[in-house]
Amino acid sequence: MKFTNAKKIFDQTGNGRKGLPPWTFNNPELSQLEMEQVFLRNWFWIGHISDIPNTGDYKCQELGNERAVVIRGKDDNIRAFHNLCRHRGSRVVEGKEGNCKNAIVCPFHAWSYHLDGRLKTIPRADTFPDIDKSEYGLKPLDCEVWHGLIFIRFGGEGSSVAEAMASAEDEVSLYKMADMKPIDTFWDFEFDLDWKAVLDIDNEGYHVPKGHPELYDLFGNTYRDQITECGLSRAHGYLKDSPAKGPLVQNYLDTLPEGSYLPESHQRIWIYWGMFPGFVVTLMPDMIEVYQTYSLGHQKSIMAGACYALDDERPDMQKAREYNRKINMTVGEEDIKLVKYSDQGMRSQVYQGALLSDLELGIASFQNQLRDLLPVVTLELPPETGKLVDKNKELLYARPALRSAI
Ligand code: FES
Ligand SMILES: [Fe+2]
Repeated sequence: MKFTNAKKIFDQTGNGRKGLPPWTFNNPELSQLEMEQVFLRNWFWIGHISDIPNTGDYKCQELGNERAVVIRGKDDNIRAFHNLCRHRGSRVVEGKEGNCKNAIVCPFHAWSYHLDGRLKTIPRADTFPDIDKSEYGLKPLDCEVWHGLIFIRFGGEGSSVAEAMASAEDEVSLYKMADMKPIDTFWDFEFDLDWKAVLDIDNEGYHVPKGHPELYDLFGNTYRDQITECGLSRAHGYLKDSPAKGPLVQNYLDTLPEGSYLPESHQRIWIYWGMFPGFVVTLMPDMIEVYQTYSLGHQKSIMAGACYALDDERPDMQKAREYNRKINMTVGEEDIKLVKYSDQGMRSQVYQGALLSDLELGIASFQNQLRDLLPVVTLELPPETGKLVDKNKELLYARPALRSAI
């Protein structure tokens, strides 16, 4: 793993250590552009292969104006489609997840599709002109399974998930993620604020000692944030040996069983790997937690995730996982409070932007990746209303290497 340093990252920001200008956290035109250019053109994590274990099992995802369905076919392959009927555009499956047995049947007029997306039947086909059925299958989406995790991409092109996560490969491979199963249902936190504000708090560990007493109790001073040369973030903290201050962390440390499938180097460490824009996998000795932060529109965002683990019936392991969940839920609740404080401050007339420390290089790295995609966020003041998209194009054209992104 090759990591970059804080100087290099801050040199790229274009505004030193100030972070993105405050207006970028509260601008409806920018929110719209981010949805189109960031979320609909990058890999989006959907779940784990064990979330849809049986033929016909599916999961749905809405993102901006788009809807996707990921479904396991009769050949056991997992595919992703636009959840969009070719007749009049209804969603073809409903809810967040379910099973469609042998075929996907549209709830509107009952056009049906094979699980591999081909059009199967049209009720009262005699009332339509002759059509070539092969032209009317569900529209496919890019879909990749990486170590058991399912990703989709609505548009754009570029690296596969495996290529983007290459620097994490050796470490992630240790965890047998593809063999894991969910140990709980999906959780989510919704926020009435910009997704970048949520990402910013998740991209730095500087707030851990004050903001997350349990996590600090667990790691002591061993927590570190690192950024790879290709922009992945990696954070880690070693589980302390000395007695913990609080009962929750002590219980976790006491119950976490000795003896593990992991090499010794990874038996007492929590590791967070993050990929732009908002994907994180947390590798822990007893389980993994996968989550993602994304936009739901202007001033609406969500962090959603789930925990997966290998089968292990040892009572101590079961207890350790419960304590782990409690620690992480506590951390989540603390972040919700802190992210609101920071977001509300950014709306103040006298707020002049951040001042980032070396310990917040993850924020600068994430923001640099956004600056590359959307140079309009480098402007100190917002463009005139109605002009943001054009201004962004103008700035992109001024950077030849990025013209293809327009
Ligand atoms: S919209 Fe799907 S069958 Fe009519
Ligand atoms: Fe936090």
